[in-house]
Amino acid sequence: MKTIISPSILSADFANLEKEIKKIEPYTNWVHIDVMDGHFVPNISIGVPVVKSLRKITNMFLDIHLMIENPIKYIDAFSDAGADLITFHYEASKENTIKTIEKIKENNKKVGLSIKPKTDPSEIKDFINLVDLILIMTVEPGFGGQKFMDDCAKKITEIKNYSNNDNLIIQVDGGINDKTAKICTDLGANCLVAGNYIYNSANIEKAIKSLI
Ligand code: DX5
Ligand code: ZN
Repeated sequence: MKTIISPSILSADFANLEKEIKKIEPYTNWVHIDVMDGHFVPNISIGVPVVKSLRKITNMFLDIHLMIENPIKYIDAFSDAGADLITFHYEASKENTIKTIEKIKENNKKVGLSIKPKTDPSEIKDFINLVDLILIMTVEPGFGGQKFMDDCAKKITEIKNYSNNDNLIIQVDGGINDKTAKICTDLGANCLVAGNYIYNSANIEKAIKSLI
């Protein structure tokens, strides 16, 4: 599978989101949108209305990363707003994991399940074959520009071992640059999220291409 690059607009200029999306559009199909609620993570970012507005200005694949408590409550709203993929955190929905997966599927969206750095892949092994994407966080979620946690990369191999789906997308998010991207793709990751590395680079085209 070709490596998918999903630039995170968390590091973009929020006063000019349309312009910021147009900067990446020629070089990749995906855009990563970080939704934070100030409870599951100690930060607040983008919500449903922004996703709805972005849907109007781009045909890019909207990769929504929910870092929120009780994600099941918001699946319909993000679906209606125009999400293509909705990823939620296992830690935020332990007792509702299956129900949340089903709810996303009912909305005809791709499903992603994410784990934080301290969560072991064995905890989600029963769900891996029910979803389209597993997101392995390589920083504590909440902020862009943090340092890649090397220890988390080995989870890529573990997830692959639990999976019987050749089309499973294994996404990594946090501290991705040209060097850490290589570590992850060598281990089998096929989708890379990068915020700071792409949006704070002098040449966005070069930055995106250096990850592939
Ligand atoms: C962090 C977010 C990431 C963030 C990554 O909680 O989930 O998507 O934007 O930022 P960088 O690439 O700067 O580590
Ligand atoms: Zn993210």
